[in-house]
Amino acid sequence: MDDELTLKIEHLSSGFFTERGYVPAVDDVTLTIPRGQVVGIVGESGCGKSMIARSVMGLLKYPGRITGGSIRLAGRELTGLPDSQMRTIRGRDMAMVFQEPMTSLNPVVPVGKQMREALLLHEKMDKRAARAEVLKMLEHVGISEPEKRYAAYPHELSGGLRQRVMIAMAMICKPKLLIADEPTTALDVTIEAQILRLIRSLSRETGMSVLLISHNLGVIAQMCDAVYVMYAGKIVEQADALTLFDAHEHPYTKGLMDSVIDLKANPRRLPAIGGVVPNLLHLPAGCAFSPRCPRAQERCRTERPELVELEPGHWCRCFEEGRAR
Ligand SMILES: Nc1ncnc2c1ncn2[C@@H]1O[C@H](COP(=O)(O)OP(=O)(O)OP(=O)(O)O)[C@@H](O)[C@H]1O
Ligand SMILES: [Mg+2]
Repeated sequence: MDDELTLKIEHLSSGFFTERGYVPAVDDVTLTIPRGQVVGIVGESGCGKSMIARSVMGLLKYPGRITGGSIRLAGRELTGLPDSQMRTIRGRDMAMVFQEPMTSLNPVVPVGKQMREALLLHEKMDKRAARAEVLKMLEHVGISEPEKRYAAYPHELSGGLRQRVMIAMAMICKPKLLIADEPTTALDVTIEAQILRLIRSLSRETGMSVLLISHNLGVIAQMCDAVYVMYAGKIVEQADALTLFDAHEHPYTKGLMDSVIDLKANPRRLPAIGGVVPNLLHLPAGCAFSPRCPRAQERCRTERPELVELEPGHWCRCFEEGRAR
């Protein structure tokens, strides 16, 4: 039922109008997140993951623009809303956690005060009540000595603590949707696991939906109810997490999975699929993955495959696997 969907993205396209032409960073993406679920987007660098996040948040900067489709948050259309309304929705109804918290924290304001400001802005609380609420939230995300941290400046905190503060700040107005874009890439593995567990449990407790973006399949496997695999701006496979990990069909997904074996040996290494992602300005005529695909046939190089539903809820964009027309 649509009422149960926190986020409903349909046929979203967004890209950049550059001097050399239009760069189609997100091409006809449809994605939904039911209430309280964690949905993942995975794919190599440059495939358009962050562009989806920025499109939803209304944070695309010139020359980037949404060129088509619809984004609904709890039934409300977001595309085309004026900036003033998007600012109110951001923070109150949806919030985002970035890879590097330093870029989104104000370096000259104590972190507690920054969180309190968000409450004062969105919730119309008085200052004392807001401070109490902030302390409660800091504690909730596992920050010890919240009084002391409240007064700390961002640079006085470790990377892991800063990321917890960011999550606390994102959560403070109890958003319906949290977008986490590579939230743990800059952290060491132990802290990463703690932060991911925290996001998962906050989502379970509060019914908040999460869009989790990562190039790390291990992270996605640990966290997600459903997964979308992206390549060159398009969804190439989508399924519930179990199906995606146990019964994926797209050769690109398989390539990513094989690279996990390498990732175990060296967690920070990039996926080991041969070749490079195509230049979005000069996409191949057929399937964008065909130049790197071990299974590519003649047809794959000339015709573009559509997403085809293989089993209920399991979609794949591949002539070979999808038996597409
Ligand atoms: N200002 C810009 N002008 C033109 N193209 C851009 C611009 N900014 C980003 N792009 C292109 O948009 C595409 C999508 O970028 P995006 O940041 O969404 O990738 P991503 O999947 O988040 O990658 P990563 O894993 O590295 O974060 C990339 O191919 C990138 O080259
Ligand atoms: Mg990104």
